[in-house]
Amino acid sequence: MSIAVFASGSGSNFQALVERSRCDQWPETISLLICDKPGAKVLERAEKLGVPAVSFVPKKYPSKADYERDVLHLLRRHQIKWIVLAGYMRLIGPVLLEAYAGRIVNIHPSLLPAFPGKDAIRQAFDYPVKVSGVTVHFVDEGMDTGPIIAQVPVAITEEDTLESFAEKIHQAEHSLYPEVVYQLITGKIRPPVHLSTSEN
Ligand code: GRF
Repeated sequence: MSIAVFASGSGSNFQALVERSRCDQWPETISLLICDKPGAKVLERAEKLGVPAVSFVPKKYPSKADYERDVLHLLRRHQIKWIVLAGYMRLIGPVLLEAYAGRIVNIHPSLLPAFPGKDAIRQAFDYPVKVSGVTVHFVDEGMDTGPIIAQVPVAITEEDTLESFAEKIHQAEHSLYPEVVYQLITGKIRPPVHLSTSEN
C-alpha cells in the first residue's frame, strides 16, 4: 500500500514530501501523483523525481462523481492507501470521501479556522494579523474544515513583504507536512473515530 499526492499547481509540497520520504526511507512510498491541471509545474517535478503522474481534466466528465470514480479506479489499481492533498484546488466529493474516510489529509497556509479558502497567505497579510501559520488537517466535505492534526505559527514582522511572508509559510509547510504524513502512515497519528474506516 502506498501514498498518492493530489496537486494542481507548483508542487513544492509534493517535492518536499517525496524528498523526505526517500531520505527517511518511509515504510510507504509516494507512488502516484494525481493532477487536475494538465501543464501544471508539479508534473515537471514528478518527472524529475521519477514519480508516476496522471493528469485528469475534470470538466470533461459529466459529473464530479464520474471524475472521482475514474480517479478511484486508478488509486485502487495502484494500491493507494493514503491521499495527501498538496495544493489540490478542488473539494473532495462523496465518492473519494467514502472510499478513503480518515485517510485523506490536506495542508492549508493559515491557522485554521482563520482564513480558509483561496489566497489565505494574502488574506492574513492584508488583514493584517501578527501571526498566521500552517495547518494540516483531515479532509471532510467542507472547505478546509476537517479535524486539525497539527499547526505551526509563522509571525508577520514589520519588515515582511507579502513575498517574504509567503516564503516563510512555504518553509514551514515543507517541514511540517512530511513530518505529519510520516506520523500518519506509521500509526502515530490516528483519524478521529467518526472518520475511521475498518482499514485503519
Ligand atoms: C500551499 O501553500 C498549500 O498550503 C496550499 O496550496 C499551496 C500549494 O503550494 N493548499 P505548492 O503547489 O505545494 O507549491
